[in-house]
Amino acid sequence: MKERLQAIKDQALAQINSSDTLEKLNEIRVNILGKKGELTSVLKSLKDVAPEDRPAVGQLVNDARAAIEEVLDAKKKEYEAKLREAKLKAETIDVTLPAKKPMLGHRHPNTIALEEVERIFVGMGYEVIEGPEVEYDYYNFEALNIPANHPAKDEQDTFYINSNIVLRTQTSSVQVHEMEKGKLPIRMIAPGRVYRSDEVDATHSPSFHQIEGLVIDKNVTFADLKGTLAEFVKELFGSETKVKFRPHHFPFTEPSAEMDVSCFKCGGSGCRFCKGSGWIEILGCGMVHPNVLKMSGIDPEEYTGFAFGVGLERIALLKYEIDDMRLLYENDTRFLKQF
Ligand code: DAH
Repeated sequence: MKERLQAIKDQALAQINSSDTLEKLNEIRVNILGKKGELTSVLKSLKDVAPEDRPAVGQLVNDARAAIEEVLDAKKKEYEAKLREAKLKAETIDVTLPAKKPMLGHRHPNTIALEEVERIFVGMGYEVIEGPEVEYDYYNFEALNIPANHPAKDEQDTFYINSNIVLRTQTSSVQVHEMEKGKLPIRMIAPGRVYRSDEVDATHSPSFHQIEGLVIDKNVTFADLKGTLAEFVKELFGSETKVKFRPHHFPFTEPSAEMDVSCFKCGGSGCRFCKGSGWIEILGCGMVHPNVLKMSGIDPEEYTGFAFGVGLERIALLKYEIDDMRLLYENDTRFLKQF
């Protein structure tokens, strides 16, 4: 028995020492110490040993087992340490490599211009409102006093989703949504994207942005409109900026006007920038038409208001002296990072 134990032990130790992986080590453990392992079978045959010898033999088996386990564990630890070391080596980071520079974006000139406009109007107590880009014909046209046969509804200008729904051609539609809420007075600007079926060129794009303005209260007059817009452009283009109103026609305002600003490049004497006129056209405006008020449930005898609409790209192009609108949409970072 003693010899057999010694043989098992020697064989086990030899196997352990010549093993080279954790898997092999585990195999050896199973073969010797497992349920059907060699040492276990010796333990089972203990019943054949004379009872008085059993404790001594049992002790021998346990000693052998402990000795084998000790070597197994030591070897296991050794392999694990080796594996860990190899893994760490494979994962080492070369701290001397130059870091990848993160690409830091910045605001688009349209965004810079919009935030400037918002800042000015919020400072005058206006709310910034948004409305849907996909719009019912009613909000884009009908409720703005643009009847069914109006040339602005011509299919050349408007993208139709179906006969009832369009991509809004103007942010003026947001005026109607705001008036329908029934909360007066109103003092809002509504920036957003608009769509027109236009060919792309230096001054046109099928999708661009407008900022709508609407004020409705008791006793609002054209003088309020003039004062507000004069203040707006002074803040935007400089305190020297003068304004000029030219009579115009918009279906939703009466009277209507277009507003020019004195050229901020030459101060009004005439230059290449203002094409020699000294003035630059900037926006459309007027007193809200009584029909428009009525259709949205506001009594024109009690309330009056003014409205205006300005192209955001136009402001960005003027302010940053960009001469081609397409540059704003190409997203060439060499261009964009200048602002
Ligand atoms: N919606 C007009 C356009 O797209 C711009 C405009 C003009 C808006 C006069 C207004 C306004 O609110 O009063 O051409």
